[in-house]
Amino acid sequence: MQINGQEYRSVWFENSRVKMIDQNKLPFAFEIREYSSYIEVAAAIREMIVRGAPAIGASGAYGLALAALSAPQDKFRAYLRSARDELISTRPTAVDLSIGVNYVYENTLKFIPDLDHARQVALLAANEFANRSAAECLELGIIGASLIQDGYRILTHCNAGALATVDHGTALATIRQAHKQGKNIFVYVDETRPRFQGARLTAFELEQEGIPHAIITDAASGFYFWKNEIDMVITGSDRICLNGDIANKIGTYEKAVMARAHKVPFYVAAPVSTFDFGCENGEDIMIEIRDEKELKFCGETPVANPNSIALNPAFDITPAAYITGIITPKGIFEPAEASQKVQA
Ligand code: MRU
Repeated sequence: MQINGQEYRSVWFENSRVKMIDQNKLPFAFEIREYSSYIEVAAAIREMIVRGAPAIGASGAYGLALAALSAPQDKFRAYLRSARDELISTRPTAVDLSIGVNYVYENTLKFIPDLDHARQVALLAANEFANRSAAECLELGIIGASLIQDGYRILTHCNAGALATVDHGTALATIRQAHKQGKNIFVYVDETRPRFQGARLTAFELEQEGIPHAIITDAASGFYFWKNEIDMVITGSDRICLNGDIANKIGTYEKAVMARAHKVPFYVAAPVSTFDFGCENGEDIMIEIRDEKELKFCGETPVANPNSIALNPAFDITPAAYITGIITPKGIFEPAEASQKVQA
């Protein structure tokens, strides 16, 4: 992705360190964080310095590579297992995280007892996972852009951009490609309370690319649907089930129901690492519940009645019946067939 005219990934490995753009600071400051231990990487994922399903998948993979590089000779296997468990436990809903971490874990174990080789393989596997993820997002963007017609006004939720992936994005990858093709498009950006990934990150990415857009409150999309000013909805996903149900940022389900009520197509875009081939349907997905402080404070400023409790599920489930199609690097599929098709 281009930021201030320079090319970046959301996360990468350089000089024995995992580096990532601090997404909690954007768009007000552009800062790169550097980590030399998997414990620091786990904390960065938990605190959402890096966030978005494919981006935390790659971060977890790099975190495990750091663990392999520093694991003691005599406790290599146990150290790696405990690093794997700690990294995976940081955020429970996005399946990309466990897929990325386990990819490095399994490839590394194959080379025990040659530990020097195993350590090298860990880093190679993490890089391979990140590169594949970026390439898939580029590909799905090109494929998904075919759905976007000249003049379309598109609604998106949360940040499904390059920041949420290693590069290119998911929902935003399709929008980027359509813009590159010269299509005249406009993007409605849900602010995405409580952490404002839309208002801060999606709006920032669209500005960097020169794509026309406006931030709206999460509740405002109904008004624009009613005015017939939304032609299409595209979101990302954190987990896609075998039956085509998906988990994504809280509020996604509402957008899908609203789209159906107004006969507007609702698409989900995702790389293969977001498919959970062991998950039958949305009821099997664990939804991350985050601290109530995220709702009751805006930064340091209290914005809610202090003595009331607040409920803060970070994701919701959109049933397959509300999804027009799933955009993947292998094509655009009906929700119920997507898992099978991406495995073929
Ligand atoms: O809590 P976040 O910011 O990690 O949630 C991110 C989302 O819900 C995205 O829409 C999802 O990860 C897919 S984006 C590639």
